[in-house]
Amino acid sequence: MLLNLILVNVFGIVLISTLSESKIMTKCEVAKALRQKGVPEKEVPTWVCIANAESRFDTHAVNRKTWDYGIFQISSLYWCQSGDKPGKGCNLSCNSLLHDNISTDIDCIRKVYAETEAIGQRPGFKAWTTWKPHCSGDNRQWVQGC
Ligand SMILES: *[C@@H]1O[C@H](CO)[C@@H](O)[C@H](O)[C@H]1NC(C)=O
Ligand SMILES: *[C@@H]1O[C@H](CO)[C@@H](O)[C@H](O)[C@H]1NC(C)=O
Repeated sequence: MLLNLILVNVFGIVLISTLSESKIMTKCEVAKALRQKGVPEKEVPTWVCIANAESRFDTHAVNRKTWDYGIFQISSLYWCQSGDKPGKGCNLSCNSLLHDNISTDIDCIRKVYAETEAIGQRPGFKAWTTWKPHCSGDNRQWVQGC
C-alpha cells in the first residue's frame, strides 16, 4: 500500500514523501521473478546480489539523496520519471518501481543493462555502483537452494 503525504518543511518548501509498508522479498522470490521474465540464467545470481546490495530486497526502497527507486535502486536522473507519469529512459514513473510485483523493474534493468553495454561499458552491470565491490565475483550463493 502506498500513501502519499505532502509535508511542508521549516523553509516552507513542499516535499512529497511516499510512506509505504516495506515488502522484503526473499532471494529465491527475486530469482524466480527474474527467471519468469526470461533473464538469462547466467545473469540471475548477479541480479539477486545487486538487489541485496542496493536495497536489501526491499521493493519500496527510495534513496532520498540520490533519488533511486525500488529493489534495484533505479535512478530517476536517467531512467524513471519522478511521480506517477511515465518518462525517461525506461518510460516509467518512479512510483511504478515501488510495487511488490517487480516485473516492471526487471524490464527496466534489462534496458539499463543493454544501453550500458551499447555505450561500451561491459558488462552492463557496471551501471550499478554496487556491482564491482559486492557482486562482480562468484554469486552462486545468491541462488543456492532456489
Ligand atoms: C510511454 O508509456 C506510455 C504508457 O505508459 C505510452 O502511452 C507512451 O506511448 C510511451 N512512450 C514512449 C516514447 O514509448
Ligand atoms: C506481475 O505483473 C506482470 C505484468 O503486469 C504479470 O504478467 C505477472 O503475472 C505478475 N506477477 C505476479 C507474481 O503477480
